[in-house]
Amino acid sequence: MVYSILSSHMESKRLSKALAAAGIASRRACEEIIFAGRVKVNGQVTKVPQTPVNWQMDRIHVDEVLVTSEQKKVYYMLNKPPGYLCTNARPGKKPIVLDLFPDSERLFTVGRLDRDTTGLLLVTNDGHFANEVIHPSSNIIKEYLVKTLQEIEGHHLETLAEGARVDNKWVKPVSVTKVRRGNFKICVKEGKKHEVRILAERAKLKIVELTRIRIGGLVLAQLPLGEYRTLSAQDRDCILTAQ
Ligand code: URA
Repeated sequence: MVYSILSSHMESKRLSKALAAAGIASRRACEEIIFAGRVKVNGQVTKVPQTPVNWQMDRIHVDEVLVTSEQKKVYYMLNKPPGYLCTNARPGKKPIVLDLFPDSERLFTVGRLDRDTTGLLLVTNDGHFANEVIHPSSNIIKEYLVKTLQEIEGHHLETLAEGARVDNKWVKPVSVTKVRRGNFKICVKEGKKHEVRILAERAKLKIVELTRIRIGGLVLAQLPLGEYRTLSAQDRDCILTAQ
C-alpha cells in the first residue's frame, strides 16, 4: 500500500504539513501520528512535526507504509446515524463512522460529531481540505436542529444566545431560533467538542435529538440516515465560501 501527495514535490515542507497534504489525516491528527512515533524519515523515527522534508530527497513511511505520489482525493457527505463514533481507532467492538464506507482505509472524518449526534458529516482523504474546514480562522457556520424534552420558551432562547463556557472559552452562538414545539435551530462557528450540548445544558434544556443540518453553504437536505454521497467541486466551494 502506498500513501500519496499531489502537490509539487520540489520544495521543503514541515513533516506534518506534508503528511496532511498527502491525505494521511488532518494537520493536527498528523502531528499526533508523528508524536506517537509512527513516522520514519529516511528510516529514522522522527517525533518532530516541524522536521523539514523534501519529497524528492526524503523517503517517508507511516506505519511502515511508504508515502508517495498521486492518490486520488475523495470527498463525501454522510448523514451520520446515531451510535457511531468519529474515530480512526477502533475502540473495542463499537461501530465507527468509517464502517459505513466499503473502502475506508485512508478516509477520515472532518472534525467530529458526538456518538449520538446525527446528520451532516464530511469524510475525505484530503488533509488540506479537512484543515481548511476545521480551522477556526475559516469561520464556517455549522447549523444544528435540536429537539428537546421541554417546550422552548423565550427565556431558554435568551440563555442560549448568551453563550456558555466551553473548553475554558466563552462561546456565543451566531443565531438561535425556535422552529416549532420542542425544536430550535442553532448556528455556531467554533466547532468545539459538545458545544451545542453545553449551551443547551446551561439553558436547562434536555436534548432528545441533535442533528447537524448545514456546514457553510452545504445542506444535509434529503440524504437518508446512514447514506453518503460524493461531493462535487461546487459543493466543496459552497462549504468554504457561503455562510
Ligand atoms: N455540538 C455538540 O454538542 N455535539 C455535536 O456532536 C456537535 C456539536
